[in-house]
Amino acid sequence: MKTCYENSSDLHIVILAAGNGVRMNSCVTKVLHKIGGKPMLAHVIQIAKTMPNNSIYVIHGKNGDEIREKLDIPNITWVKQDHQLGTGHAVLQAIPFIPSCGRVLVLYGDVPLISQETLSDLLNQTGYDEIGVLVTELDNPKGFGRILRNYEGDIEAIVEEKDASAEQRKICEINTGIMLLPAKLLIDYLHKVQPNNVQKEYYLTDVISLAVSDKHRIIAVKARSQEEVLGVNDRAQLAKLERCYQKRIVDKLLHQGVTFMDPSRFDLRGELKVGKDVVIDVNVIIQGKVEIGSNVEIGPNCLLRDVCIGNNVKIEANSVVERSIIDECCVIGPFARIRPESHLKKGAHIGNFTEIKKSVIGECSKVNHISYLGDAIVGKNVNVGAGTITCNYDGVNKHQTVIKDGAFIGSDTQLVAPVCIGENAYIGAGSTIISDAPADKLTLSRAKQVTIEDWDAGKKRKK
Ligand code: UD1
Ligand code: CA
Repeated sequence: MKTCYENSSDLHIVILAAGNGVRMNSCVTKVLHKIGGKPMLAHVIQIAKTMPNNSIYVIHGKNGDEIREKLDIPNITWVKQDHQLGTGHAVLQAIPFIPSCGRVLVLYGDVPLISQETLSDLLNQTGYDEIGVLVTELDNPKGFGRILRNYEGDIEAIVEEKDASAEQRKICEINTGIMLLPAKLLIDYLHKVQPNNVQKEYYLTDVISLAVSDKHRIIAVKARSQEEVLGVNDRAQLAKLERCYQKRIVDKLLHQGVTFMDPSRFDLRGELKVGKDVVIDVNVIIQGKVEIGSNVEIGPNCLLRDVCIGNNVKIEANSVVERSIIDECCVIGPFARIRPESHLKKGAHIGNFTEIKKSVIGECSKVNHISYLGDAIVGKNVNVGAGTITCNYDGVNKHQTVIKDGAFIGSDTQLVAPVCIGENAYIGAGSTIISDAPADKLTLSRAKQVTIEDWDAGKKRKK
């Protein structure tokens, strides 16, 4: 045990994450399954980090390296529990790292929606030398530990469902598992816990009855909502909590002034910053880090991943925009795909069935119909005709296409990179441009049109 150089307001947060998660039926460690695009354990750590004077300890099982690598969060003490002998045994693994002054808050890696407000209630309502237990009442308390109270209404013990009598199972007040204890008491009582129960496990909950028998008062603090104390043991619960999480997110965004055509058909799997008067149609998915300016409209079925979108942008139905910067007043889609490392400058238009990859599209330039521009630098006021393709890849290397300001690219043109189209140049429709086209001139490459005078359609008819 560490010496007690710290003070009693220090909060040691122990997050239990060593369970096997067998019911997930997965090769992925349970606490790495995601809610809102982020591992459950990362949600819990994020909330833990908002608590004052915190030190965080994560108790993990055999997959510690995987968890550490996937989360990549600094300032965590990772503690291995070699055998899963119960919640009490799990917390015990952190004890050598925790000084005996200060308090210990126990959280669960698979209870991802716990809120800062509820944890603050627990911290504020529990005195420094008291034990606080976060409880709630459930219509269906099946599977949870039940809170046993005496005639005065004080908590006496927590009994696990498997150990409970039929009468005790009728109790609807449950232990959420989340507890706050003075480190000193926890350390003393954890060493006394014995696996005298149906599951032959060391129960953390037994600390409660041990403390009560020494006349310590247990403070019951009620969680602000039921969903935030629900745990994930299987995929159905994961799916349910995903919906709860999305509802929470959408409520926050509605509050911030976003219009949703249907708040139940929106998914945020990352972080979103929005300006004012953003309108989001149905089935929009936002992933990674996304910023959207003011007065932006996002049409139905769009996917935005790691993008920054300026004011007054319109993204029409069924468009995908990834890792790109979209300046103000651009119009994208419907059915457009903007791939990573692209930058659309102010007022650019990208139309239907157009793919843009690693390209800059200059101010007010238009690529409106079924085109592909890859590794291109396009100036301003350029018009790229329907069906234009940059041939940017020779099978080994990628090459750049430059189209200078004011150029007009006729429809169905292939620009074989590396190639440069000069300022205000015109390219005739149907051209294959293999060398630079000079400024202000019309350049085209096209086989001469011929008509075969003695052609007889009859010869081609089926015999
Ligand atoms: C526990 C509580 C129960 C409470 C419920 C709330 C005990 C004995 N029971 O029951 O009163 O109602 O949570 O969800 O505490 N874990 C480890 N190592 C272990 C065992 C568990 O890290 O050896 C972790 C699990 O990964 C999980 C958490 O502790 O995150 C809870 O363990 P679990 O076995 O699910 O406990 P419950 O039976 O649900
Ligand atoms: Ca559980």
